[in-house]
Amino acid sequence: MEESDKSIYNLRHDFSKSSLNETDVNSSPALQFDSWMKQTLDSKIEEALAMVLSTVNKEGQPSGRILYLREYGNDNFAFFTNYHSRKGEELIENNRASLTFFWRELERQVRIEGTVEKHSKEASDKYFYSRPYYSKIGAWSSPQSKVIKGRAELEGFVSDFDKRYQTEDVPRPEYWGGYILKANYYEFWQGRESRLHDRIAYTLQGENNWKVERLAP
Ligand SMILES: Cc1cc2nc3c(=O)[nH]c(=O)nc-3n(C[C@H](O)[C@H](O)[C@H](O)COP(=O)(O)O)c2cc1C
Repeated sequence: MEESDKSIYNLRHDFSKSSLNETDVNSSPALQFDSWMKQTLDSKIEEALAMVLSTVNKEGQPSGRILYLREYGNDNFAFFTNYHSRKGEELIENNRASLTFFWRELERQVRIEGTVEKHSKEASDKYFYSRPYYSKIGAWSSPQSKVIKGRAELEGFVSDFDKRYQTEDVPRPEYWGGYILKANYYEFWQGRESRLHDRIAYTLQGENNWKVERLAP
């Protein structure tokens, strides 16, 4: 670890914007999430919908990547991707996954855990057809997560599909669509001074019965 400069030891940010108390939070974590998400969107924070999706393969190897949240409500969180991608393969091996949001400007983190299933074909169509033309062409052109020879190969695929679909509507590839993570655990984190952050966790104990606890920072 000789390459990292010791000056990064001293890069610190103290969190002081807000607080989170057991008495402030909604007894429903879905409504608590909705309230924080609305505040995030109202604050015009960039990349408010970006979240880390973490998956674990059958060997127990975790992997994370950023995706966009596209729908949420009633403890369900939807994202869209290529079903043949690495994440798609890993979700077949193990459907347990987590989502992590970091809203730096509000000094907030949200962690959500649960199980993932494919979204309906209708919902996948609805989202796919709402995308711009070249995002649809991109879904056809990218064998997501596979090794490719070079940028030129990818651009060749784009130009082939562009020629093919120029004059007609681009259909949704059957290997591209949505997933829903159904939450059974949430944690809402609000940064506080001197690393004494507020952490409120919700654990699902039965149908719609959430235990609310404070965790040490
Ligand atoms: C801000 C941001 C948003 C992204 N949104 C998506 C998304 O919604 N869907 C997607 O498939 N990939 C998205 N990506 C790309 C993924 O991070 C990742 O590279 C890709 O899905 C392949 O991941 P995998 O090989 O683990 O399957 C996004 C990346 C960034 C930085």
